[in-house]
Amino acid sequence: MSFNIAIDGPAGAGKSTIAKLAAKELGFIYVDTGAMYRTIALGLLRKHTDCEDEGQLGQALEEIQVEMAYEAGAQQMLLNGENVTGLIRTEEVSRMASISSAKPAVREKLLLMQRSLAASRDVIMDGRDIGTRILPQAQLKIYLTASTRARAERRYLELRQKGEACSLEEIEKDMKERDYRDMHRETAPLKQARDAVLVDTSHMTIQEVVERIVALARERQ
Ligand code: DC
Repeated sequence: MSFNIAIDGPAGAGKSTIAKLAAKELGFIYVDTGAMYRTIALGLLRKHTDCEDEGQLGQALEEIQVEMAYEAGAQQMLLNGENVTGLIRTEEVSRMASISSAKPAVREKLLLMQRSLAASRDVIMDGRDIGTRILPQAQLKIYLTASTRARAERRYLELRQKGEACSLEEIEKDMKERDYRDMHRETAPLKQARDAVLVDTSHMTIQEVVERIVALARERQ
């Protein structure tokens, strides 16, 4: 049977950085489900889809094809055959991903893809509802969080490094709005699974968090 680790938590808690490193150490595959929602969001933006119009959303989703591939161990996202990995980290896509991922039709589209990836392989999968909905049987569940300020500062540095103009206040405000939407939506809201281990990364180094997760995984393997 495959060993599954579910990592959930708000944006900027360090999920992807930590999950990637832990996956490497454990020899697992890392699956970033946020990237899948971002790929759909980019598709919807390109089509100028109004997500509040169910018919329009359904039609757009039929025309949007999402695929995943690995290149030198790094997850690549394909949108209708085009590699869009480098295009899905903008604030515009972030905002659209937060809005569209609240729609049941969008979540349904990705559910089977996520479950089947985990069924056959040892994976660390990160997202918002992995421990609560996608992989309720995961052998290890982590709820990774940090203060809003700490998370906004991390995102700010990330964007600055990429040369994107941004303001910390604006990022923090956006982040609060997004957290609120992710936590209060009707479908698959972000919340800690009852059997998840809570890890607050506000005052931890990346290496400390990775060691904690790897140790927990080894205990349970
Ligand atoms: O983790 P991220 O910032 O790349 O996620 C982008 C958006 O997708 C975010 O608003 C939450 C949503 N998401 C989700 O609803 N469920 C997931 N499993 C992963 C991401």
